[in-house]
Amino acid sequence: MSRVVVTGRIPEAALESLRAEHEVDAWDGTESIGREELLRRVAGADAIVSLLTERIDGELLDAAGPQLKVVANVAVGYDNIDVPACTERGVTATNTPGVLTDATADIALSLILMATRRLGEGERIIRSGESWKWGMFFLLGSSLQGKTLGIIGMGGIGQATARRAKAFGMEVVYQSRSEIDPDIAAELGARRVELDELLSVSDVVSVHCPYGPATHHLIGAEELAAMKDTAYLVNTARGPIVDEAALATALREGVIAGAGLDVFENEPQVHPELLVLDNVVLVPHLGSATVETRTAMAVLAADNALAVLNGQQPPTPIR
Ligand code: DGY
Repeated sequence: MSRVVVTGRIPEAALESLRAEHEVDAWDGTESIGREELLRRVAGADAIVSLLTERIDGELLDAAGPQLKVVANVAVGYDNIDVPACTERGVTATNTPGVLTDATADIALSLILMATRRLGEGERIIRSGESWKWGMFFLLGSSLQGKTLGIIGMGGIGQATARRAKAFGMEVVYQSRSEIDPDIAAELGARRVELDELLSVSDVVSVHCPYGPATHHLIGAEELAAMKDTAYLVNTARGPIVDEAALATALREGVIAGAGLDVFENEPQVHPELLVLDNVVLVPHLGSATVETRTAMAVLAADNALAVLNGQQPPTPIR
């Protein structure tokens, strides 16, 4: 029997499958486990099932000890894990691609609609008790039909967002490290372009690339200035891909029309200037937040941990 440390609360189905085979020490506090407590608990662990709020670095891997075999992240994004540090120590790192693709694309489309149709503003007016009535020019937004969606990062979530946008009558361009499957590109009518073209032709830019040194502040003041002043920016990937201070300035000065953010540069903090702007929709990292999706993510992470502990190839290793 191995010792599995789970760094936060996860759905019962995943805990059950871990408990069926191993001794499980799961943090069940409503607050995140603190760093000190985490360092203490991982000592002697054979597997760590980690949430994206926990930093898994060399210090933590060393605190766990040389018997540690696997870090199974309950997230597709793995910028919280120092993968080279895992590799150096012979620890397998895994993530949860695929199972949250639709849920995250749904949130991207929701943010696109909320931002372009000013739904947050409308809701705030009603809840404030302010008087309002239907008016020809009241809270006019912008239609999606015939407009261009620019997708940065055309992996599974980018493609799923493109598919939804196409159903809304949008054209799709994308920027990606590699060409996507030609059949999928044809189905979506999606054209691959360089980032500068994407920024200049898109009416909505949606960010779906992974976060790392190469994508830190990929969208900053210069990129925002390259967008149309009628365009919207949506980010459901990772906060630090967008320079939040530059975005706040661009939104305030009308450099772009609006934005929708599910992720933030210093989560859970949000840049104070964004909080007072009406042309940005702010939601608290809800991309994968459905019962079905979170269950599937946790079960996949558990399957990854179990496979490695049983000497098998995990379903979704980080490569
Ligand atoms: C992920 O899996 O990376 C998402 O951000 C979780 O919501």
